Amino acid sequence: MLVRRHVVVFGSLNMDMVVRVPRMPQAGETLSGRGFFSNPGGKGANQAVACARQGGQVRMVGRVGDDVFGSQLRAAVLAQGVDVERVTTSADASTGVAMVMVDDTAQNCIAVVPGANASVSVADAEALRDWLPEAGLLLLQLEVPIAAVERAALMAREGGCTVLLNPAPAQALPEAVWPLVDILVLNETEAQLLSGMPMVDTSNAGHAAALLLRRGPRHVVVTLGAQGVVWGSAAGTWHLAAHKVQAVDTTAAGDTFIGALGALLVEGRTMEQALAHAIRAAAICVTRAGAQASMPLREEVESWI
Ligand code: RIB
Repeated sequence: MLVRRHVVVFGSLNMDMVVRVPRMPQAGETLSGRGFFSNPGGKGANQAVACARQGGQVRMVGRVGDDVFGSQLRAAVLAQGVDVERVTTSADASTGVAMVMVDDTAQNCIAVVPGANASVSVADAEALRDWLPEAGLLLLQLEVPIAAVERAALMAREGGCTVLLNPAPAQALPEAVWPLVDILVLNETEAQLLSGMPMVDTSNAGHAAALLLRRGPRHVVVTLGAQGVVWGSAAGTWHLAAHKVQAVDTTAAGDTFIGALGALLVEGRTMEQALAHAIRAAAICVTRAGAQASMPLREEVESWI
């Protein structure tokens, strides 16, 4: 019997350089930071680690540079049990980096230099073919070239594997991508860009989800931070509340949510059960600093009150 127990992540790896600031600086302003640290990030690697920490069996495709950050990022993901055989090293590009500012309200501002992530190719996507018989879910984001993302989605679709797309950073999607997506998970900014609907409250998010469902996905999940999550499917639209926590850093909360969601869906849990678990995982993540550094283990999520 074919057991599709693997989660495949096709995406980015970045070294995050994080500065704590009291508030976000204005254009032309120099501000004193309160502290600095670096830690492994990148939306692809973050989702891979988040999924592995919830018990997922994860394989990753990505690219780093031939430099110290590249080996550190590969090692960090491998240490969480992720198969990094296809996280390859580019000879002519440096590892992706993200400059992250986190303010006293726990919000962040991020500028990413893609580096080697930009050389993830259509050929890398085509090489997914031999992994697909064991893959239950493909996780995609938009920090690697869209042509490669589109081909990966097509390969997965042809291979009978569920496709979850997180369209982050926000950008318009080629028409051909929409029908290849089973589950779309996006934040307010992304939902606004893709639906054209201003995101003022959860009812707007519900309308945006309903609109986006018409483009092809079976499920649309709009993450709203402290306001929780809006989930839309053919059966209707629901709002799931967030847990109240003292947030210190919201970086990678969405990635934690997606990785946890993926881990539970591949286990065969219902969307409702997986969403409830993912909301808890993301709530724990925001109480800690960093990206991969802040992601909880399965036991923590299950015992968290
Ligand atoms: O989603 C958070 C991530 O976005 C950070 O880790 C940073 O690397 C950017 O890719």
